[in-house]
Amino acid sequence: MTAPVTLPDTAPLVLTRCRDLVRPALSRAVQRLHPWHAGMAAFSLGWSDVDGSPLPGPQGKGLRQALAVLGAEAAGGPGEDAVVGAVAVELIHTFSLLHDDIMDGDETRRQRPTVWKAYGTGPAVLAGDALFALAVQTLADAPGGYGAPAVRRLASALSDLVRGQAEDLLFESRPWTGTGAVRPQEYRSMAENKTGALLGCAAALGAELAGAPGGTADALDRAGRHLGVAFQAVDDLLGIWGDPAATGKPVHSDLRRRKKTFPVLAALASGHPAARRLDTLLSTGGPLGEEACRRAAGLVEDAGGRAAALAEAHENLASARDCLERVPLAPAAHEEILALLPFLVRRTG
Ligand code: IPE
Ligand code: MG
Ligand code: MG
Repeated sequence: MTAPVTLPDTAPLVLTRCRDLVRPALSRAVQRLHPWHAGMAAFSLGWSDVDGSPLPGPQGKGLRQALAVLGAEAAGGPGEDAVVGAVAVELIHTFSLLHDDIMDGDETRRQRPTVWKAYGTGPAVLAGDALFALAVQTLADAPGGYGAPAVRRLASALSDLVRGQAEDLLFESRPWTGTGAVRPQEYRSMAENKTGALLGCAAALGAELAGAPGGTADALDRAGRHLGVAFQAVDDLLGIWGDPAATGKPVHSDLRRRKKTFPVLAALASGHPAARRLDTLLSTGGPLGEEACRRAAGLVEDAGGRAAALAEAHENLASARDCLERVPLAPAAHEEILALLPFLVRRTG
């Protein structure tokens, strides 16, 4: 019997290659900011500490910048064509995290204090605004007449992103069960907006900046949106069962805040006996303590919420693959995008 061949996981290599390609332009863009904002941006990106001392490496995966670069390569262009778009989406992502951590009241991200915790809420809001403006400026300056359509695409993704954030916040005051409960389709739409819109925009922008036809950019956009739903379902899973040492976030923070995450919604809709106990536990007033969170996590698992969220992630990855099949893409870049997909579901942080 022949031994099974273990293929090396190329995803981390792809992410590193793309980050290295984009980094000089991203650094130059951040240097255009007011020094106060530049310091907060560098802190958030994991380049430096609060006191400005340099840190060894980036903190994030750099998924959005990678999708932009791969979008250009999939369209047959050089990755360099996408750099201006990659910088813009990375700046937008950083801005969205700064504001999101304030909205969510999260004090820790990637094992470090969040920007509002380290610098104050006002400064963090302002740094987010500055990053937003810088992203638009960067993209508007794209060479070759690409600036205006690129800004239009980014603006459209941004309006979806803030719509998704609004839906996410509004879900918090909805009941867990009954007629007002959040339906799975509403969750999917929220996740597609808050997470998928920017992922799709990243890949589509890369393709457009490399001169791809509209159909190719649209297919990449749709793939990225499915990827966003998968990514968010996994994010929700990690928020309950992830190891805080790997996720960099405190365990159970979504449960404690009674966030309408996919595993919990799926568990409540399951009809399993544990769902009723979970509903009772979540519907009692007051903050959910650590013991109650542990019990809730167990009930979600018993009612199949963990398995359902994983299935949701896999279904959306399959849909993303289908979107990519429908248009001609350069094979090597297509392969690299496909390599990123399972990596995002298997990720631990
Ligand atoms: C963040 O969503 C989405 C945006 C920043 C637009 P979440 O609040 O669910 O993500 P994390 O867990 O804080 O990263
Ligand atoms: Mg958050
Ligand atoms: Mg949030």
